[in-house]
Amino acid sequence: MENREDLNSIIGFLPVVLRSSSLFWPSKVVEALKALSKGPDHSKVDSGESLFLAISDIRQSLNLTGDVLAFSTGDGFSLFFDNLMSRAEANKWFGEVLPAMADMLLQLPSMLEAHYKNADSVTCVGARDGLQTGLRLLKSQEAGMVLLSQELIGCLLACSFFCLFPFSTRGANHLRMINFDRLFASLHENNNEKQENKIKCIIHYFERICSSMPIGNLSFERKVLAVDQTSNYIPYPKAESWSKSVVPLCPFEVYSSGLIEDQLKEALEVDFANKYLGGAALYKGCVQEEIRFMINPELIAGILFLPCMAENESIEVVGAERFSNYTGYASTFRFCGDFLDTKDSDIMGRRKTRIIAMDALSRVGKRQYGHDLLLRPTDDSSFPRLYREINKAFCGFSDPCKSHRYEILLNGDHLSEAEHDQKLKSLESNSDNVLPASFEDEVGIVTGNWGCGAFGGDPELKAMLQWLAASQALRPFVVYHTFGLEALQSLDQVTKWITSNGWSVSDLWNMIVDYSSQRSKKKTKVGFFTWLLPRCSSDNPMISDP
Ligand SMILES: *[C@@H]1O[C@H](CO)[C@@H](O)[C@H](O)[C@H]1NC(C)=O
Ligand SMILES: *[C@@H]1O[C@H](CO)[C@@H](O)[C@H](O)[C@H]1NC(C)=O
Ligand SMILES: *[C@@H]1O[C@H](CO)[C@@H](O)[C@H](O)[C@H]1NC(C)=O
Repeated sequence: MENREDLNSIIGFLPVVLRSSSLFWPSKVVEALKALSKGPDHSKVDSGESLFLAISDIRQSLNLTGDVLAFSTGDGFSLFFDNLMSRAEANKWFGEVLPAMADMLLQLPSMLEAHYKNADSVTCVGARDGLQTGLRLLKSQEAGMVLLSQELIGCLLACSFFCLFPFSTRGANHLRMINFDRLFASLHENNNEKQENKIKCIIHYFERICSSMPIGNLSFERKVLAVDQTSNYIPYPKAESWSKSVVPLCPFEVYSSGLIEDQLKEALEVDFANKYLGGAALYKGCVQEEIRFMINPELIAGILFLPCMAENESIEVVGAERFSNYTGYASTFRFCGDFLDTKDSDIMGRRKTRIIAMDALSRVGKRQYGHDLLLRPTDDSSFPRLYREINKAFCGFSDPCKSHRYEILLNGDHLSEAEHDQKLKSLESNSDNVLPASFEDEVGIVTGNWGCGAFGGDPELKAMLQWLAASQALRPFVVYHTFGLEALQSLDQVTKWITSNGWSVSDLWNMIVDYSSQRSKKKTKVGFFTWLLPRCSSDNPMISDP
């Protein structure tokens, strides 16, 4: 088989078996899946309870009994399919959807073989032909991409539903669980309407793909900031790069209502992520990241092969289709029917939905997000918080095709502004030197209160850091949803004022550093905007006296 190295890195995490260069299911599993595929009259699987027994048998044939499923998974299956689901829906599920899922699973070995066969000949957008795209473990510190068809992802998620992924070695490889056992097991707890509705999204996804299999692709890319410049990596900004950057701030639009996933512009949509992609999506979590993973379930496939993010990494997923509509948030989250995703696709067959997962620093225990820590290194980062956060956002917002331009902008601090501009211009016009105008030139950033909920970040500073990072990454705009957060009432006013004064990245950055230092010395107690605004209203003091 081709791409053997790719396969070898992941085979231990897949349920299928590799022998004499080919992939297959053990014969007992084939028998069981064939029976299931013939429907309930043949398989006798017509309830949550009998489904869980069938799943347990298949797991036994795969020697997975040592990987113990979450306690009360079986009860969760019974509760969902036998009590919460209507009889009519259950008939459809057991009569049509489950047999189709069993059929899909039977095809997993051949689908994987075809995937590895094609993985070398992928045409990529931008100047990225020849990029390796096979399914493999995308380890920390290795920049790279995996390109999967929606069909293969459907098949992998069916494995999750059947709890067929082995998991004893996942933890040691910094990978979270990917089977759906905990999702079902936690249905049993009190007040779990949100969990029921998360499962409804997943069930709806399987109903949709089993009645009509989507034909597109998704890419999952680990983006890495590297100290040493190498291709596919993004240059690591030094502290001085921010304080000297002449890049102008990009346009910044503020909306107090609306949701990131509903925007229509070409943009990277920020996933306020956990360092483990997906966060608690397959556990009990139900906030921004987890909700996105339920309405766009193909994102879940990334959990299989993307270990935990380090401080200089982010994960970009392009092409995830949205299947479900919803209302609410956290405990009020509710599935509310089908969603037809009409986004168009690029030349790689990916929907132009670009999701960027980046994890904010979380506060340690109950301690406040201390301002005295902003400029000091912390336990979990070799950089002070401010730098860690802005570099993380820069990593997320960067377009790896523009690494050469970033390098010049970040490390050209010995150049005057005019020399700088000239250098950029010559880079842009010299076609031997640079990539063709990137297809991402029109792609902006859509974001909101990143790391401000459970992670306890300062919303004013977080908004400013994201603006700086997006500008430095040469994005054409930031659309910011405040979700009505009171602390950001003056965001629009402040950003308009800053924009009207034509500030560069360094102008704003230096203000933030100044503020943080005053705050940590207890010379001020107010928020950044309140601190900045009196200075704004007088006669531009920072222009004359920065
Ligand atoms: C990413 O950051 C880590 C920790 O700061 C560092 O050790 C590592 O060298 C960086 N990775 C690269 C590719 O430079
Ligand atoms: C999604 O649900 C909301 C609330 O019920 C509804 O207003 C909206 O029209 C729905 N959107 C789609 C695309 O179905
Ligand atoms: C998906 O990617 C594969 C591999 O590059 C390619 O052959 C196929 O045409 C793509 N699908 C679409 C719909 O473009």
